[in-house]
Amino acid sequence: MKEFIKKLPKAELHIHIEGSLEPDLMFRLAKKNGIEIPYKNIEEVKAAYNFTNLQSFLDIYYAGANVLITKDDFYDMTWAYILKCVENNIIHTEIFFDPQTHTSRGISFETVILGISEALNDAQKKFAISSNIIMCFLRHLSQDDAFKTFEECLPFKDKIICIGLDSSELGHPPSKFKEVFKKAKEEGFKLVAHAGEEADYTYIYEALDLLDIQRIDHGVQAIYSKELMERLKKEQIPLTVCPNSNIELKVFENYKQHNIKKLLDYGLNVTVNSDDPAYFKGYLNKNFINLCENIDLSKKDIITLIKNSFNASFISDELKNEYINKVNKIGQINE
Ligand code: HPA
Ligand code: ZN
Repeated sequence: MKEFIKKLPKAELHIHIEGSLEPDLMFRLAKKNGIEIPYKNIEEVKAAYNFTNLQSFLDIYYAGANVLITKDDFYDMTWAYILKCVENNIIHTEIFFDPQTHTSRGISFETVILGISEALNDAQKKFAISSNIIMCFLRHLSQDDAFKTFEECLPFKDKIICIGLDSSELGHPPSKFKEVFKKAKEEGFKLVAHAGEEADYTYIYEALDLLDIQRIDHGVQAIYSKELMERLKKEQIPLTVCPNSNIELKVFENYKQHNIKKLLDYGLNVTVNSDDPAYFKGYLNKNFINLCENIDLSKKDIITLIKNSFNASFISDELKNEYINKVNKIGQINE
């Protein structure tokens, strides 16, 4: 099964680029930029990655992002993720970035977006990896702050396909960002939001009905509403599920308890993603492998999950077909 997973071409739809910052690059950038980090060595960093919930992770994740200062730093972080895409056979990726984490430290929006987008352009040229960029608002900040960030992104509109919503979920429901999402829709952006990761399924309803989003990031709490499950099935709204993240942040006790197979068997449009792979012990293949080692997923299930990702991505139908043909070809050879 491991070989089968590794060989299949894949898409990733839920990866925070700041969450791909590995400890060794964090140390190198900290030294280069003269930024203090509260760890003596890589072992200490890894020991700190022992989370109890989403907030305990976010505190460490935002502190880690402090080492990113120059355009080259953003390029290097993104390029390191692209090399992981090559290793994981990811041929299309849609990455989140959190501009407010950086602009609040005096880093310009331009520095961030150009560093990331130049690396993605090089990924297309060197490895034929296609990509899209999703700009997320931090939901623990105000809607006014999100509006300010939205204005800042407009000169770079051609580089950003979609607007998302992330950070501390509990107490910051989608309704808080209704107006800014309306504006983003008017400007032609696609929309997604983290919902139903830690907070209950009512956040998923809000994301759908008040923000008018096209995909739900996480969404695993949907299982507690039969009515919502029926709607997600009927409308085939994609869920970008992140198994390793859910285990590391204690959304589920262990992989055996994870509900991804139940969601899939119900007929929902489920995809597998790595979320913050440098913090959650592995990239996309590892997420699939951990599931397969603990849950009875068939090869057919794996193929369905992978095809769902391509179908739920923001690429043209033509490119979707091309990629899905590749999956069919390689999936058959191995079965
Ligand atoms: N949830 C919310 N915000 C995040 C996450 C997540 O899993 N990862 C990075 N920012
Ligand atoms: Zn996420």
